Amino acid sequence: MQPASTDHLSRITIELGDRGYDILIGKGLLGDARTWAGLPRSARALVVTNDAVGPLHARALMDQLAGLHGRVDCLELPDGEAHKDWQTLNLIFDRLLATVSDRKTVLYALGGGVVGDMTGFAAACYMRGIPFVQVPTTLLAQVDSSVGGKTAINHPLGKNMIGAFYQPIRVICDLDLLRTLPARELSAGLAEVIKYGPIADLDFMDWLEPRVARLRSLDMDALGYAVRRSCEIKAAVVAADEREGGLRAILNFGHTFGHAIEAGMGYGTWLHGEAVGCGMVMATELSRRLDLVNAAFVGRVRAMVSAAGLPTVAPHMPASQWMELMQHDKKAEAGSIRFVLVDDRGHADVRPVADDVVLDVISRCTEPAGDAAPAATR
Ligand code: NAD
Ligand code: GLY
Repeated sequence: MQPASTDHLSRITIELGDRGYDILIGKGLLGDARTWAGLPRSARALVVTNDAVGPLHARALMDQLAGLHGRVDCLELPDGEAHKDWQTLNLIFDRLLATVSDRKTVLYALGGGVVGDMTGFAAACYMRGIPFVQVPTTLLAQVDSSVGGKTAINHPLGKNMIGAFYQPIRVICDLDLLRTLPARELSAGLAEVIKYGPIADLDFMDWLEPRVARLRSLDMDALGYAVRRSCEIKAAVVAADEREGGLRAILNFGHTFGHAIEAGMGYGTWLHGEAVGCGMVMATELSRRLDLVNAAFVGRVRAMVSAAGLPTVAPHMPASQWMELMQHDKKAEAGSIRFVLVDDRGHADVRPVADDVVLDVISRCTEPAGDAAPAATR
């Protein structure tokens, strides 16, 4: 399998009829005229970013947008998952109304998954729907959150609980934007790259295994291929099941255990990708317990997660807390927890598993009581 050359722009079309759109992937995309071709021209546009990403990248984006829109404003939201809430979302509506934005106004989400999810939700709601473009700046956002139209904010009682399915009109994955990303965030994004192998493409897993270190050192050819293949797989899954009636849930491989770790440790202590990385090791071990994969397969997943700089051992939590937290997972049905399980043919399935098997896997994969250091200190 040959990696894509990043000298060229890769284009993946996500097939959703009149809601379909292109995902563009490559280096230097912000400065490439092809990136902007075919986007709607309008009197106004608003770049939504945050106070960490805006100072680094907003000027370069706004300079390009001047050719498409009469007036381009920029709104910097406070950075962080803690601000993925109604109050911060309202700042977007405040600015749109203050600048007399109309139905043709285009929103541009410049940031990671937090900015992308909030901007998408604002676009879904403002005047009952205006166009938005994703310009993802984290690896996690380039390979996952910017694609597929899940938009949301958090509620104090649950993550991503208030939201809408609302597709962007284009996704622009400029690999150069990743150059300023902190190493810990790059590692967290690798968890979402790793997940696509076991659930959908064992050839991709074979390709990725020896290249994790290259990805961590921002090898652009390797990154270009990893982002492209991840987006191809996600685009196919979303095209088949846009609103998660069934298949799309496989994209949550590792997330049932991962969400429990994130919530149990307190949001922000473990990054989402760190928790998902560890959760994938646990979900693969669960698959082994059900004879779907062998121990060597679990070892391969664990080794990739570890090579990505992510924890592979979960923090200690009482069994009752694990079960209680996992019951809040969106895949749970009538109180029954459902897990994404993988087999050794690159297929995934979502189903309930007996509590005693789940608890056995948890006890094998967690630290002993009294040692629950945050992921960042491992
Ligand atoms: P994030 O958006 O919080 O970004 C991580 C950190 O990196 C932030 O501090 C951000 O300011 C900073 N950052 C972003 N780009 C940077 C750059 N180029 N240079 C320097 N700093 C940069 O986190 P994330 O991991 O991108 O996304 C996590 C969010 O995505 C969660 O809210 C999660 O729920 C959501 N998510 C959504 C989907 C979906 O399908 N919609 C899928 C997965 C995750
Ligand atoms: N990140 C999971 C999904 O988009 O469905």
